[in-house]
Amino acid sequence: MQQFQPGIFNVLDDKKRELQAQGRKVWNLSVGTPDFHPDQNVLDAAAKAIADPNNFKYSLGNLPELVEAVQSWYRRRYGVELAADEITSVNGSQEGLAHIGWALCDPGDIVLCPNPGYPIFEIGPWLTGAEILYYELLPENDFLPDLNAIPEETAKKAKAIVVSYPANPVAKAAPRSFYEELVAWAKKYNVIVLHDNAYSEIIFDGRKGISFLSVPGAMEVGVEFNSLSKTYCLTGGRISFVMGNRDIIKKFATLRSQIDYGIFLPVQYAAIEALNGPQDGVERRRAMYQQRRDALCGGFRSIGWNVPDSEGSMFVWAPLPEGYTDSVEFCFELLEKSGVLCTPGSAFGSLGADHVRFALTMPPEQIAEAVEAVRNSGMIR
Ligand SMILES: Cc1ncc(COP(=O)(O)O)c(C=O)c1O
Repeated sequence: MQQFQPGIFNVLDDKKRELQAQGRKVWNLSVGTPDFHPDQNVLDAAAKAIADPNNFKYSLGNLPELVEAVQSWYRRRYGVELAADEITSVNGSQEGLAHIGWALCDPGDIVLCPNPGYPIFEIGPWLTGAEILYYELLPENDFLPDLNAIPEETAKKAKAIVVSYPANPVAKAAPRSFYEELVAWAKKYNVIVLHDNAYSEIIFDGRKGISFLSVPGAMEVGVEFNSLSKTYCLTGGRISFVMGNRDIIKKFATLRSQIDYGIFLPVQYAAIEALNGPQDGVERRRAMYQQRRDALCGGFRSIGWNVPDSEGSMFVWAPLPEGYTDSVEFCFELLEKSGVLCTPGSAFGSLGADHVRFALTMPPEQIAEAVEAVRNSGMIR
């Protein structure tokens, strides 16, 4: 439990409240909760389902129409064919990633995780007693793993590798050639791939999100998490799916049958509508995230802070400006001097300590105000 002490987020939150109490304006670009609403057809499906008292029972599993909707979405969107027993649901990818290690790892097994990376990737397997080793995501490598840099001995012993693109926090997308390399590497060393595809639909400049499962051989080596949270603004609904290798899915579903009585039925009906219904909302939001990305990255560059354009995800990964070396100190000073709240990169691993992360959770006009406040702080030289 000592690993889970109240962290930097609580301290920053206290500071934010203190400023707000003084009447200061705060732009909170720290947490990745979308400010968009679900589409009306999805809300209507949920409202209709919630009016039926039968839908308040334990669901004990997924509605067949929901499994079909996932199959059809994966076929349409990625050209991937999935059998019903190659799919299981989770109460959000966060919960799924927290628990999948229990189905796969023995104490002492090695799990490879990105540094910097999204914290649950390592916390889940670590809770099972697995040993976490890191692969590095470096700017000079385009924030992609250099699989050849993983020592042969480590690769041979590793049980699983967690990979996720478009990536939180580094905001990069991965090309298909990377996934091909990953599948070949995983086969060679007999390592399970856990791919988190939370942001496949939030990707910019005409790129198209890729399913790891669309790469030949992927179904033999791994599974993919795909969340409805960000794609359909259903973060509070807690619904995601894990798909891919049948044996892994079977083990995970068996484990889950002990701890999970199924997703709330109105949420399942909302998900069916989201997956089967019109997809123009997804496109509209992608375009709006891109406008926000342009307002923030372009805005920062216009005031002399050289922040690269995000390729995907709802985040911006900004190298600390000249004169700063500690992301925590920088965040506090930025909040104090400008009212702009971001997340210290060190929250995502040691290699994040020279970056900060901004979430694209405000319209471009407000982002422009935040950029102006950063300019007025005098911190960008
Ligand atoms: C990379 C990544 N995976 C998973 C999640 C959590 O998704 P869910 O809402 O499905 O639990 C997030 C949320 O920020 C995320 O950034």
